[in-house]
Amino acid sequence: MYRLITGIAGPSGFGSASTAEQVTQGIDASNLTAIITGGASGIGLETARVLALRNANVIIGARNLEAANEAKQLILKDNNNARVHVLKLDLASLKSVKTFADNFIDLNLPLNILINNAGIMFCPYQLSEDGIEMQFATNHLGHFYLTNLLLDKMKETAKSTGIEGRIVNLSSIAHIHTYEKGIAFDKINEKRSYDDKKAYGQSKLANLLHANELSQRLQAEGVNITVNSVHPGLIMTNLFKYSGVLMKILKFCTSILWKNVPQGAATTCYVALHPSLKGVSGKYFVDCNEFKPSRFARDKVLAKKLWDFSIKLVNAA
Ligand SMILES: NC(=O)c1ccc[n+]([C@@H]2O[C@H](COP(=O)([O-])OP(=O)(O)OC[C@H]3O[C@@H](n4cnc5c(N)ncnc54)[C@H](OP(=O)(O)O)[C@@H]3O)[C@@H](O)[C@H]2O)c1
Repeated sequence: MYRLITGIAGPSGFGSASTAEQVTQGIDASNLTAIITGGASGIGLETARVLALRNANVIIGARNLEAANEAKQLILKDNNNARVHVLKLDLASLKSVKTFADNFIDLNLPLNILINNAGIMFCPYQLSEDGIEMQFATNHLGHFYLTNLLLDKMKETAKSTGIEGRIVNLSSIAHIHTYEKGIAFDKINEKRSYDDKKAYGQSKLANLLHANELSQRLQAEGVNITVNSVHPGLIMTNLFKYSGVLMKILKFCTSILWKNVPQGAATTCYVALHPSLKGVSGKYFVDCNEFKPSRFARDKVLAKKLWDFSIKLVNAA
């Protein structure tokens, strides 16, 4: 908390005040291709801008193509050498996730970095196209399926180039506020017990568990790909659209704890690009430093159970 408020750097040399440009200063990503989901706004857009600034080839996955093309133009305005492409992706539809992955594979590009960034928060109860509670479907299941569909491409790229692949899941400190058993497997779609805050926390816990389980599986296979999770900090973005007034009041009272968007994208960019994290996998980062997540997030049995559960949901859909 002291470091968050003061911005004093942690062991990594960076802290809550560091920006995405600062943590990637001097890094040449010209031989890297990265996918960023939800890269049309907020933290995802800043991540896309800074990765492109470091010369990475960036693919923005977005459900709103108009917004994504505007985001692309914004990036190009200040950096006309930026390599940015836009592909349609609706994470709340497994069919759309599959089409996105197929379209990406058809581009015949390598894939070094996958940033599972898109998300929604605190929406009223609703079901996705596949009949799954919307926050779990968008934040976790869509990303789970997408990652699995792109994994062979990432493995191929890591093997043929010798460059470590990196997967970054955008989790949140909110992962600590979840249902009683962490993931409510038997009530995942239950309307009666739905709590918009806990459902968000559950989906962010799922992002962490997914990263940890995948990291373990890839390590066991001897694959040169790391998987980590991040909490970007508190940043006023469109994410707060379902809790606007409440959060604006909260922000007013707790302004010292909030970051701007360039600071909000720092941890993602640090984990995706920084050479000091070579070989570091299955970890959780806050303010560009490793952080201990909740007891549920460290539960390997829960992570395995979520993996099997997610596979079943995808197969059923
Ligand atoms: N901001 C914070 O304080 C904070 C704190 C902790 C964690 N996070 C995490 O950081 C990530 C980025 O959030 P943000 O603050 O940058 O919010 P944001 O500005 O609302 O960005 C979220 C992005 O996700 C996209 N998205 C939502 N549903 C989608 C779907 N079904 N398919 C494809 N894209 C979809 C949004 O697209 P549309 O514009 O079409 O909705 C938007 O581009 C999220 O995972 C969030 O949980 C944020």
